Amino acid sequence: MKKKLIQKEYDKKIKLIQRYNKGYYEENNSEISDADYDLLKKEIIEFEKKYNFLNKSNSPTGQVGYKPSKNFKKVLHRVPMLSLGNAFTENDLVNFEKKIKNFLSLDESSSISYTAEPKIDGISASLTYINGEFSKGLSRGDGKEGEDITSNLSTIEDIPKFINSKEFPQEIDIRGEVFIQNSDFQKLKDKFANPRNAASGSLRQKDPEQTKKIPLKFIAYTFGYEKGLIVNNQSDFLKKLTEWGFKTNPLNILNSGVKNLMKNYQEVEKKRADIDFDIDGIVYKVNDFAMQKRLGNVANAPRWAIAHKFSSNKAISQILEIEIQVGRTGALTPVAKIKPINIGGVIVSNATLHNEDEINRKDIRVGDTAVIERAGDVIPHILSVDIKKRLKNSKKFTFPANCPSCGSKTIKEFNKITKKIDAVRRCSSEGYYCDKISIEKLKHFVSKEAFINS
Ligand code: IVH
Repeated sequence: MKKKLIQKEYDKKIKLIQRYNKGYYEENNSEISDADYDLLKKEIIEFEKKYNFLNKSNSPTGQVGYKPSKNFKKVLHRVPMLSLGNAFTENDLVNFEKKIKNFLSLDESSSISYTAEPKIDGISASLTYINGEFSKGLSRGDGKEGEDITSNLSTIEDIPKFINSKEFPQEIDIRGEVFIQNSDFQKLKDKFANPRNAASGSLRQKDPEQTKKIPLKFIAYTFGYEKGLIVNNQSDFLKKLTEWGFKTNPLNILNSGVKNLMKNYQEVEKKRADIDFDIDGIVYKVNDFAMQKRLGNVANAPRWAIAHKFSSNKAISQILEIEIQVGRTGALTPVAKIKPINIGGVIVSNATLHNEDEINRKDIRVGDTAVIERAGDVIPHILSVDIKKRLKNSKKFTFPANCPSCGSKTIKEFNKITKKIDAVRRCSSEGYYCDKISIEKLKHFVSKEAFINS
């Protein structure tokens, strides 16, 4: 009986992660934060370790990502695109290194060199070059099979179309991350929940002309299939990438010893808010390729690399009020006024609720006790509410049918990019009829952003 209950509990977690995977990889929306996703994945792995009787046929631990969508032609990766194991604590790093030394029968006191590369939170892509020419570009898909998104990737300026260097391999799949800078995301924030969704959505446009409009960037960090690559280690490979015309992460370094890895991790975490793209951790890779080869892979992740994730800052507080703010484009953004609370050294009294759909999905109500997250320099947001602590007289929140500023009807439009009804509700007034829109337009007109972007 107990076994049945455990299987049921496990299946529930699997169903949940499948739903999140589908949203993340196929529909370009993430229902939960990365930290919560990682936690759920960790719980599943712990269940599998603890209860060996489980039916694990749907386990996500042997899968990478989600199946490619039907919009694009599917193509097999000649070398699979693997995932990375996660580390959260110093102890996880100690264990990672211990396993490597054991596997290679190295002395405990020996030193291993690693590249430490900030982990960009974007969309990975694999670019095939034949005789120096960019000939095919694939998304990761499920790791084995990706989508042919060559024409969309071709619109990205950071992706060299032809490489004229004697040393460039005859054939190679260059892999890296497609992303959007936070400053560029500001112009798109009405359409997408975060920069990652914006990058994913535009990369998977059917019409490359639409992709072209969005300033996507590309940073290279590894390779898949290769013929003729003459490099012996990752740090030299990263140097070669820049010589060949690719962008690499300027914060990449070569490092060794867990204490030094921790020091660098803390330094980069502090810089996180000043960097113009989202990073969610540091990737460590054993520098020496011969060592990497000997170490090989476990299930879907290499033994020679790990992602050291940044912790997110969370706290619990009460929602005092839900205020609707009217933006320059007429978008109505709900903001939760919360009982002021210290989150990682910053007093937070407002948290964004993103849009109407988000409130409905999470059933967020005035008076609720909520988990609030503040990550990097992004506006704090509500992760979840505690239904058990809900006040008896609480009422479901209804989004205003009229603009709180001018009283015009509020509407939801059809989004041409996502092909769905927008999650954002807007004030339907036109021109300068709505005072709040006019003020926000004027504010924007005289702002630094307007001057920089025009
Ligand atoms: S290496 C086998 N290097 O992290 C090595 N990945 O969870 C696999 N990522 O799918 C990738 N920055 O989207 C690598 N410097 C970096 C990275 C990086 C970001 C992403 C990538 C990958 C995911 C792994």
